[in-house]
Amino acid sequence: IYRSASSSTLPSFLLVGPSGSGKTSLLTLFERGGHAETRTSQAPLTVEVSLPVTTTTASSQYRSANDPSNQIHKKFLLADTPGHGKLRHHAFDSVIKPQNLKGIIFMVDAADISTSSSGTGNEALWQAAEYLHDLLLLLQKRANTKSPRGPTELPVLVAANKLDLFTALPAPLVKAALESEITNVRSLRTKGLLDSGIGMNDLDIGDEKEWLGDGGEGKFDFTQMDEVNVSVTVAGGNVLGADGPDVKQWWDWIGSNI
Ligand code: GTP
Ligand code: MG
Repeated sequence: IYRSASSSTLPSFLLVGPSGSGKTSLLTLFERGGHAETRTSQAPLTVEVSLPVTTTTASSQYRSANDPSNQIHKKFLLADTPGHGKLRHHAFDSVIKPQNLKGIIFMVDAADISTSSSGTGNEALWQAAEYLHDLLLLLQKRANTKSPRGPTELPVLVAANKLDLFTALPAPLVKAALESEITNVRSLRTKGLLDSGIGMNDLDIGDEKEWLGDGGEGKFDFTQMDEVNVSVTVAGGNVLGADGPDVKQWWDWIGSNI
């Protein structure tokens, strides 16, 4: 993990999501502007990244195009985490002990969750929905705990990756698929049929609200997170692909939250 006095004050973003979704590939692209072979991650890794000067940030959008301060690269820390189910505590630990955390990028493989087989359901979609459910529930608890330290507002980007593959679901369909599968995860969890994979009880953040989103029995959708100051955005892109990467929407999201 990156540790230095100067970098500890940098804004940071956390990369989470199922194994194989492309988190380490994105980290490599953002850090070095290139592609390198990745292997499944077994430990978290934090790197320093510079936002492209062409990306508008929240603080620069009212400045004139000629303002010299626009030419300075905005720097931030990007923390990659392993997607494997048994290693997700790294991701959840980073949420609980945020170091100037500005946002969370939840990456999914949009081609992997598209292969829905009727009846039995889709394992990859279920895995992604379960992970995202647990993450959002953790953020909801975090907000409700009202810690005096730091703001509770924390945006989440659901990055629908691998859109270069023709089997990939477009971002709006990824959104709909995740919302409806999270609805299923939520109802199974409350019926006690499904244990939280992450041992939510071990996390000392209170347990006053176990139900994700609003109290109703209806469908879950991401706008229900607005109430706890967690705004969820779904945007598509690809880290690799024959026509090169397309990560502009993700840069823009980082820029607007930095
Ligand atoms: P874990 O470390 O196991 O959690 O996985 P990860 O999310 O870090 O995935 P990783 O970056 O290692 O990528 C998994 C595989 O997907 C690699 O073979 C990548 O080359 C491939 N991959 C990543 N992004 C893309 C993409 O946009 N398009 C395509 N076609 N393949 C991609
Ligand atoms: Mg990885």
